[in-house]
Amino acid sequence: MKALILSGGAGTRLRPITHTSAKQLVPVANKPILFYGLEAIAEAGIVDVGIIVGDTAKEIQEAVKDGSQFGIKVTYIPQEAPLGLAHAVLIARDFLGDDDFVMYLGDNFIVGGISELVDAFQEERPDAGILLTKVPDPRAFGIAELDVDGRVVGLEEKPEVPKSEMALVGVYLLTPVIHTAVRAIEPSDRGELEITDALQWLIDQRYDVRSTTISGYWKDTGKVSDLLEVNHTVLEHVEPLVAGVVDDASVIIGRVRIEAGAQVSGSRIVGPAIIGADTVVKDAYVGPFTALADGCRIEDSEIEYSIVLKGSSVTGVRRVEASLIGRDVEVTPAPRNPAAHRLVLGDHSKVQISR
Ligand code: TTP
Repeated sequence: MKALILSGGAGTRLRPITHTSAKQLVPVANKPILFYGLEAIAEAGIVDVGIIVGDTAKEIQEAVKDGSQFGIKVTYIPQEAPLGLAHAVLIARDFLGDDDFVMYLGDNFIVGGISELVDAFQEERPDAGILLTKVPDPRAFGIAELDVDGRVVGLEEKPEVPKSEMALVGVYLLTPVIHTAVRAIEPSDRGELEITDALQWLIDQRYDVRSTTISGYWKDTGKVSDLLEVNHTVLEHVEPLVAGVVDDASVIIGRVRIEAGAQVSGSRIVGPAIIGADTVVKDAYVGPFTALADGCRIEDSEIEYSIVLKGSSVTGVRRVEASLIGRDVEVTPAPRNPAAHRLVLGDHSKVQISR
């Protein structure tokens, strides 16, 4: 069994963060989202892993390297443009050979791993296996239609009138017959070779496509609100640690991880939260579900339910909430006079200013 991880794509919904970095490397609880997937694959006993990479190939390769840090062996497969999930299978043909494989979307997050699913698939070995979960807004997902016995009879990508509430989770269990399917289909209206169309082709040709409904937590981290939610979920299980320096004037409450070299003074930190290595928290409040990466500075400020990437600072700002702050960003108050907001924002930035 091999694995194919999709780590190309454009990540338009996470701009401007994705103008300068890969969306799969945005950290959740200070670890890139992609790493959770690689760990789940390694845990399932899979060693041969192909990673589809696009414009951000260099950055993904620098982070994952040869995969030995996860106990896997990585082959990088460049994709010239994000032409669809089935296109990724098409270009991975040589790597995949005649093996069964797990296809895993690099920006997806699943609690509980995939070991049991992989074991069950290998035992039963249908022609393809999909994972489903109930979602409140089916129009935003690939949706499966099931018959009364729970067999998959139809699949649709982001349907306007959904036939069910069962969405496809970004993990697919596939056998070599998928290679025939991805060659048989045409690009969709949005110009992509859709994996849902390839699976539908299998269903139409009477291949055995089975579904498993997962009850555990799953999230496609395409949007900022999803990332913040996954960060929330992961931080709830963070291992508390104080490896940095905390002065007597500070109060630490709940699950808080303070990494080596971090300095906390005159501050209140209410967990779950994580303070990265060499980060300074001074005269500040860091509230629940906040992840501060390495080398940040939070001073005379309040921050809660947010993700702050490496090297950024928030100084003299009363309250920052539900925010994703990129690398080496500075947030400061404007001088009192003239009373005006002064902004230097990258393309596609989003700012909400409280009046
Ligand atoms: P999507 O979230 O469907 O696409 P995207 O990354 O282009 O994002 P957006 O909609 O915000 O523009 O992709 C799911 C995962 O698969 C993601 O990790 C990117 C990856 N991917 C590829 O590697 N190749 C592709 O051709 C596509 C469409 C996605």
